[in-house]
Amino acid sequence: MNAVVHNWKVLPSVDTYGYQLSGDLLSSILENSSETEIILSDPNRIEIDTDINEFFSSYKQFLLINPGFILLKADPDLSDEELRKIYAVCCRCWGNLNNRYGYFFDVVDQGLDYTKEAIPVSKTKAATGYHTDSTAKEYFPDVVGLLCLQPGASGGESLLTNAADAYHELLSNIPESLSALEKPIIRDVITPGTTNNLETIRNNAFPVFSEQNGLFTFRYMRYWIEAAHTKTSTELPSQLYNGLEAIDHFFSLPENTVQFRMERGDMLFINNRFLCHNRTAFENNTEEKRIRTLVRSWINFGD
Ligand SMILES: [Fe+2]
Repeated sequence: MNAVVHNWKVLPSVDTYGYQLSGDLLSSILENSSETEIILSDPNRIEIDTDINEFFSSYKQFLLINPGFILLKADPDLSDEELRKIYAVCCRCWGNLNNRYGYFFDVVDQGLDYTKEAIPVSKTKAATGYHTDSTAKEYFPDVVGLLCLQPGASGGESLLTNAADAYHELLSNIPESLSALEKPIIRDVITPGTTNNLETIRNNAFPVFSEQNGLFTFRYMRYWIEAAHTKTSTELPSQLYNGLEAIDHFFSLPENTVQFRMERGDMLFINNRFLCHNRTAFENNTEEKRIRTLVRSWINFGD
């Protein structure tokens, strides 16, 4: 593969790439924003103030190149509505938002089980396993945004790892697995509004590692790959199985992962092309109304 890759030379620290947004900046964003209703219902229409746009542009290289993520911290004492507005403006500074699940999808436990029905893990309280977002062949967000309105009572920590580093590990140790991982691989179909049958699953095939527009691109969630093979009664090729095992092993090593807990007001933006993310299982405390609530957005870089 001749794609441009962005390996981590050293494991990045969330302290290094976490930035507290000043009160003046937050006030400026709120004063310059349109009505909340418009921002949240039709965010791609938001006109970003030039100074605000310039401020966030200076951080874009961290998202695009290295380390591939950024954690922006807003005042936790702001209201949910204010935090949602600020988050929407930040999202728009990176590009255009996608509306497949709604522009702003509240990630809360809906009491569902993704192992019993084909639903996104974002609707559960389970550990998600390492994955990139979107299991649909035709759509892939460049950036996943997450705003924390309420951390869980326990668990729910975020984990990040670099798939470009995993690729180099495989290239060194089991290069034969790459031929299987660079071929189209079937995935289960879970996007709301789509038909889930054997034909759509067989058509929903794309590589784990590929080059798109000259960029290294990683699309992964092992569970949906294995579910697709089970449903279609297709044997998982041994080279593919070995490759998946090696990827998961690489991601499981603490020296390859960044782990942290998001607090209220934190806005995490992840490059979904070369970073892979995960979340530990969590529990809510309903009596104290500590219902873990994150707001997810899918963003594609503009021109
Ligand atoms: Fe995700």
